[in-house]
Amino acid sequence: MSLPPPSIQTTAALPKAVRARGSYLWDASGKQYIDGSGGPAVYCLGHSNAEVNEAITGQLGRIAHGYRYNFTTDALEELTAIIAERAGGSLREMVFTSGGSEAVESCLKIALQHQTAIGQKSRRKFISRQRSWHGNTLGALSVSGFAERTEPFEGALIPGIKLHPVNAYRPLPGASAETLAAAAAAELEAAILQADAETICAFIFEPVVGAAGGCVPAPPGYAQLVREICTRHGVLMIADEVMCGAGRCGTWRALAHDGVQPDIMSIAKGLAGGYMPLGAAICTTEVWEPIRAAYGAFGTGHTFSGHTASCAAGVAVQNIMQREGLVARVAGNESRIRAGLADGLARIEAVGDIRGRGHFIAVELVSDRAARTPFPTERKLFMKIRQQGLENGLICYPVGGNVDGVSGDIVILAPPYNASDAELDEITDKTARTIAQVLRAEALA
Ligand SMILES: Cc1ncc(COP(=O)(O)O)c(C=O)c1O
Repeated sequence: MSLPPPSIQTTAALPKAVRARGSYLWDASGKQYIDGSGGPAVYCLGHSNAEVNEAITGQLGRIAHGYRYNFTTDALEELTAIIAERAGGSLREMVFTSGGSEAVESCLKIALQHQTAIGQKSRRKFISRQRSWHGNTLGALSVSGFAERTEPFEGALIPGIKLHPVNAYRPLPGASAETLAAAAAAELEAAILQADAETICAFIFEPVVGAAGGCVPAPPGYAQLVREICTRHGVLMIADEVMCGAGRCGTWRALAHDGVQPDIMSIAKGLAGGYMPLGAAICTTEVWEPIRAAYGAFGTGHTFSGHTASCAAGVAVQNIMQREGLVARVAGNESRIRAGLADGLARIEAVGDIRGRGHFIAVELVSDRAARTPFPTERKLFMKIRQQGLENGLICYPVGGNVDGVSGDIVILAPPYNASDAELDEITDKTARTIAQVLRAEALA
């Protein structure tokens, strides 16, 4: 008796992708899709970029993987120099990874190793925020505030402190949009003091919250206050820029917008634009030096850290981004994307908020605009929008759970940085039409 084919572990019946170019993909039936979200905010140069593909195949022809504990390579050295230059300031030391979760995991371990190296071994706890997503490995999951994704693993996660989310559309209890930055910073400082500062290793946050909140930028002044508080209490500041970094928000480092340098940061998705798996944990020379003195090396890394072909992809993607001025283009396009969505959704009462930065913009849907009430969770509106989008030839990134970890409906757009004006308009137009269509079908518009 022959066995059925193994499950490919998808949650729905999905089209089969067969090819892609620029901002478009095609499935096996020949149907075309425009990539409005760069998949999960990854494909910053779109698909099948010839220069990136040639850099990878050229590298594969020479050496695919010069295991970094035996060899250095040109690709590794070039990418290291590029990242140090783009990150700026003293963010000059790094560990490469295969993706975002490993990058965050490495950030957490670098923080712990640094605290140990400076004689602060009592500092073992992490503080993070609800409505944040830091990844799927156990450490990264432990600091994540995303109930739907963490619930099956409760009891096995590393204990930590979770603060309220920082979102001007849904401010902390007792705060307004105007007082939010100060209130959220005060909450952080109170938590550090309450737990005893000597036990706190680091505070980790997303400078612009991605999937868990729906493109939520930090309110003005918040990041500076966090910087001051962390410095005051010997707590390391970790910026998770896996989703919002590498140019996605119109500055290469998302936190550069706030004029703040973290001690440690992660990047991944846009670093190699999805052409190869690649991420990095980056830290300042001040964080690195005690580690170097005590241990000589970071106590984190994997077989594929600094994989040569992945680094070659990263170098090519970053060179194109620089040469074509794409980060500035992303900053300049924000108003076009916002206006496209606002125009297309002008008559939809369920649109509560349109927010974000650069090529990272989200629409939040609510059942009552004044009260900002989410739609009932069981309606799974976001899932219906994803499905309708696919039917309409649109890839967007709808997510649920932004309100309390379970309820809420968000649609994230994260187009390629080099999408043309016409493609951006097509993306916002199709997104607005898809949202309207689903709401009408549900008798909600
Ligand atoms: C902010 C943030 N951190 C970490 C991760 C985990 O990255 P990966 O899925 O590449 O492991 C993600 C993934 O979406 C993310 O958005």
